Amino acid sequence: MSRLALIQDIFKKTDFKSYLEIGCFKGKTFFVVDAENKVAVDPGFHYKFYINKVKWAFKKPANLKNQYFKEESDTFFLKRKDVLEKLGTLDVVFVDGLHTYGASLKDVLNSLKYLNNKGIIVMHDCYPPHEAAALPTKFFPTAEEIANVPGWTGDWCGDVWKSIIYLQRAHGDFLDICVIDTETGLGIVKPKSDIKVEELKLDEKLYAEIDKLTYQDLMKDPKTLLNMKDSEYIKTIVEEVVNRAKSN
Ligand SMILES: C[S@@+](CC[C@H](N)C(=O)[O-])C[C@H]1O[C@@H](n2cnc3c(N)ncnc32)[C@H](O)[C@@H]1O
Repeated sequence: MSRLALIQDIFKKTDFKSYLEIGCFKGKTFFVVDAENKVAVDPGFHYKFYINKVKWAFKKPANLKNQYFKEESDTFFLKRKDVLEKLGTLDVVFVDGLHTYGASLKDVLNSLKYLNNKGIIVMHDCYPPHEAAALPTKFFPTAEEIANVPGWTGDWCGDVWKSIIYLQRAHGDFLDICVIDTETGLGIVKPKSDIKVEELKLDEKLYAEIDKLTYQDLMKDPKTLLNMKDSEYIKTIVEEVVNRAKSN
């Protein structure tokens, strides 16, 4: 089961309406997700071009009610509070923007401020397939950085995996966090009780401590560090979200 199947299944089986995708690229996931209110955020997303491609491919108009923000996610969360408040809560968030520890963690912490207490955040690329893909950089790897990385294949997951460890250690009391061993590791972040928004401020000391971990540290025990689950576990995640969505 892929990220798309997971997200689609949740929308199909609940009355969830709102979807935020951070990092959309060509909209391979965004345009296909079937949700009433969709918001796309990406500084490099040429959505008008892709809307036209989707229209052509599916011979039906892409939903023009969707909202597109061609900007970095930090800017979005800073400047678009009105958009977020108008949406009510976010039901499903897909975090797939800049694949650094700092950026991915900020995306999750910002999303949690607006997340439905019964909702879910899905994170891409939480389990790098090899060391080259886990290259920690400040932005997308540059040609000079790649030149010194043995085994570089073009796949880049960065150090998003550190965000999973941070979230477990900082907020494991009200969040359920795991990584599904499918694609390149689907991170799952979902509230098990009300989100403690007042506690979401970054813990700098913990952040720095986790930032020191290396790919070798991760590979000593990824199952425990990331609370890894096999791909079948996606069905359990969907069931849990659906049951929680239906509960009072
Ligand atoms: C891996 S692609 C996303 C793929 C897409 N989610 C999909 O399922 O097809 C990553 C995207 O993140 C975008 N990105 C980079 N920095 C970002 C930022 N600070 N905020 C939001 N998106 C960002 C890039 O422009 C790129 O299009």
